[in-house]
Amino acid sequence: MIRRLEIKDINRVIELENSVFNHSLGYEFLEKASKSEIAYVYVDINDNFIDGYISTIFDGKTIEILNFCVDKDYQRQGIGYKLINYVFDELKGKGAKDSILEVRRTNNPAIGLYEKVGYKKIHERKAYYSDGEDALVLQIKF
Ligand SMILES: CC(C)(COP(=O)(O)OP(=O)(O)OC[C@H]1O[C@@H](n2cnc3c(N)ncnc32)[C@H](O)[C@@H]1OP(=O)(O)O)[C@@H](O)C(=O)NCCC(=O)NCCS
Repeated sequence: MIRRLEIKDINRVIELENSVFNHSLGYEFLEKASKSEIAYVYVDINDNFIDGYISTIFDGKTIEILNFCVDKDYQRQGIGYKLINYVFDELKGKGAKDSILEVRRTNNPAIGLYEKVGYKKIHERKAYYSDGEDALVLQIKF
């Protein structure tokens, strides 16, 4: 089941982000996001366990993907694909015309997923990340 983030989910989402990225958007950000009019954050729940999560900012036209991850033990089972398509369906219903995101050039699993759903590269940001890695800017138009 996919639904919007609730306060009770935040500690698990922080644990999930830390296990996948070694950092988290943090409690305060996620708490604000759970009440915000422009942050759309969704969790995938299986047997009461949050196995995936996606955070986005939506301004009425463009969906910007902020963080997106699936628990390492549950990757490559279609959860990420299901989550991002759920966000598209929800926000297209609210007027979304496109979506944009940044991804590390070497993040092949994420790039594979984004290309599978239809994102295209529109820009590169050289040495965008603190370790010097380039970012690719991807966009999908609905
Ligand atoms: C990116 C991520 C969310 C994908 O979630 P997932 O549930 O494992 O992905 P899915 O099972 O839905 O895969 C959908 C498609 O993505 C691509 N993909 C997913 N994992 C892949 C991998 N390890 N290698 C290559 N392509 C991959 C494939 O095209 C796949 O389709 P297929 O299985 O029919 O070949 C997950 O790998 C993850 O959490 N990665 C670490 C965090 C991250 O990099 N987040 C994105 C940047 S913010």
